[in-house]
Amino acid sequence: MAFVFSREEYDRRIAWYTQARFGMFLHWGLYAIPARGEWVRSTERISKEAYDRYFREFDPKHCDMRQWMEAARDAGMKYVVLTAKHHDGFCLFDSAYTDFKSTNTPAGRDFVREYVEAARAYGLRVGLYYSLLDWHHPDYPHRGDPNHPMRDDPGSGNEGRDFGRYLDYLHAQVRELCTNYGKLDLLWFDFSYGSLRGDAWRATELVEMVRSLQPDIVLNNRLEVSGEGFGSLAAGCPTPYHGDFVTPEQLLPPRGLVDAKGRPLVWESCVTMNNHWGYCAEDHFYKPASMLIHNLVACVSRGGNLLLNVGPDANGRFPGEARDILKDIGAWMAKNGDSIYGCGPSGLEKPEYGRITRRGDTLYYHIFENTIGPLPLFGAEKERITAIRRLADGSEVPLSANCLHSDYLELAFADLGPDPVLPDPVDTVLEVRYG
Ligand code: GLC
Repeated sequence: MAFVFSREEYDRRIAWYTQARFGMFLHWGLYAIPARGEWVRSTERISKEAYDRYFREFDPKHCDMRQWMEAARDAGMKYVVLTAKHHDGFCLFDSAYTDFKSTNTPAGRDFVREYVEAARAYGLRVGLYYSLLDWHHPDYPHRGDPNHPMRDDPGSGNEGRDFGRYLDYLHAQVRELCTNYGKLDLLWFDFSYGSLRGDAWRATELVEMVRSLQPDIVLNNRLEVSGEGFGSLAAGCPTPYHGDFVTPEQLLPPRGLVDAKGRPLVWESCVTMNNHWGYCAEDHFYKPASMLIHNLVACVSRGGNLLLNVGPDANGRFPGEARDILKDIGAWMAKNGDSIYGCGPSGLEKPEYGRITRRGDTLYYHIFENTIGPLPLFGAEKERITAIRRLADGSEVPLSANCLHSDYLELAFADLGPDPVLPDPVDTVLEVRYG
């Protein structure tokens, strides 16, 4: 039967996701042991045999998924996405179709199960990442593939490799994930490249299966594209395997995204805290919490979500820097979350001192930098303002009646009081309500 895109169904299933705005990405697997990022097998062209030593050793004694989920919840995140299988092919779940799984390591644990249970217990929406690439499966192209660790190895030709058999495996594993772990809220496929996209993954059949097992699930767009490219929903001609959201990576779309007809598109920027997804012991280039808060606000003001990554270490702990950053973000979110959840673009021009987000008739002015004199509420309709409150404590902020701005009659100015230092030096939020 021909595929018919239903805007109503789409709007219904995506609603929680655009409300949520802020989630946690978790990249974790055997690569936490070499600790040079999740691409280590490919970049260093490590053989299967050499990589196997990490499999024989994997035993993250300190991994407590409840602690991970607690950290996500306390940071103000509403959903989580864990790598059930990354490109190295290692599975954090008890798949019946491979031996290369966490239940066969010294850990002997089904981490996906522990994760799903913990996420639910902490009130988080549950997402799983599943790599379309697989550097462990014998039927995945080796030689000549642009990414495979054995791409240049003359002994790794592709004779006898049966891609159809690999696709059966991929489909069977996705079926397991969609069957054995209760309700899933989100599936994050990764990624399409070259001729491997769309129906090369038998994506129509795959998505039909996923939706038959998990009718409300939200899917990303990487059965069609990667971090580059927008996908068929953006082009205005959705395929049966169209993604529900666009996935810019390590980048915020400079102006938000619209589809071919100019209608706002749902998107999510996935961003690392340092410069790696998987744990990297040497990478201490962490983005300050203040920068991440500003960028979360930027995402929301452009109609997008932020999926912020943590790469736990080989013992199953979050890096100390990540823990501290999450705490700082959480402290801000606890007071200012109303300017994030369920909010979107204001339709107003961005003020130089910060940004504006909006929910219905409420505008949130995010002040990153104080102004000299009363603060101009650019774009606010002066006559409609019924109240201005500091979001963090609910305290009243008066409209300024200062004659200094009498030349700017059409502009509303807020009076922040005598202290030039903002109450929150990172982002002081004013809630401007209309009647
Ligand atoms: C890229 C990388 C991968 C990472 C992903 C996150 O596709 O291949 O390692 O998981 O981005 O978006």
